[in-house]
Amino acid sequence: MTRTTSLLSLCLSADYPDRPNVLRTLALEMYSGEILGLIGQSGSGKSTLALAILRLLHLHKGNQRGEIWFQGRNLMGVSEREMRSVRGRELGLVLQSPLSALNPALRIGTQLEEAWRAHVKGSDDAARKAILETLLSVSLPAERSFLRRYSSQLSVGQAQRVIIAMAILHRPSLLIADEPTSALDTITQSEILRLFAQLSRELRMGILYISHDLLSVAALCHRIAILHAGQILECAPPAQIFGAPQHVYTQKLVAALPRGALLDSDGDKVSSVVASHEVEESVKPSVESSIPDQIPSIVR
Ligand SMILES: Nc1ncnc2c1ncn2[C@@H]1O[C@H](COP(=O)(O)OP(=O)(O)O)[C@@H](O)[C@H]1O
Ligand SMILES: [Mg+2]
Repeated sequence: MTRTTSLLSLCLSADYPDRPNVLRTLALEMYSGEILGLIGQSGSGKSTLALAILRLLHLHKGNQRGEIWFQGRNLMGVSEREMRSVRGRELGLVLQSPLSALNPALRIGTQLEEAWRAHVKGSDDAARKAILETLLSVSLPAERSFLRRYSSQLSVGQAQRVIIAMAILHRPSLLIADEPTSALDTITQSEILRLFAQLSRELRMGILYISHDLLSVAALCHRIAILHAGQILECAPPAQIFGAPQHVYTQKLVAALPRGALLDSDGDKVSSVVASHEVEESVKPSVESSIPDQIPSIVR
């Protein structure tokens, strides 16, 4: 894999006033169009890393040091004004609780339009066209009546699709999704996972998919990074993480997986999400052939 396909390359340390070393020279690299799963238990620093990539840690009184190379420039060196134009346009963010991320007092259409106008000066027609196209791409009704709804009139799955629509309105090259399905029931979870796979395929968008659940991301991701105590212990395609985990911690994670949980809610192999994935040769997992028979079918 060459450096030219690198989308994000970072090395970060981060602390909070009463909590030092939350990220400890954490190194991570992502490639264009890649879905990278970031897995770690609660408190391991996942959300801290997501906020640090967006340079938003100061809002939580956190302090970050290091480098964040994104599309050829080091975000640690750019002004706050420039960062405001990067956030939401080149870097999208989806958080865990969709309903609390939406403003209950504003119609969905108004919130989507505000998100669009944050980065584009354009006519009402141009705004509506971009919004309706984006609603279609997240499988929501591209209709005026839908835009007139309030968040209280949406299901939680629809609300998460609206949040995802907002995050991809400007077709960011990297979408950071921090536990985006944790608040959803299992059927809605699997639908949203399929949506991420579809968006990555259709929009060629890199996705940093953060989760505490190794199984739920395995079928979605090209590579999985294992985060523990503020450091990446290993980063490899799912086939290797499941078939030949290198680090003792990863070995324990994989050994603890329930073997019966490898089917999705429709009773399909979860791997069907990956099977439909067309990815660049440069990011395609390439070690499936070396997986021994006894490991979970999810990665075969
Ligand atoms: N605003 C904050 N102030 C102090 N400590 C924090 C703050 N946010 C998170 N932490 C601590 O930093 C560590 C990592 O938190 P976080 O990044 O939220 O982990 P994760 O998202 O993996 O659950 C945890 O020990 C947490 O208690
Ligand atoms: Mg978190």
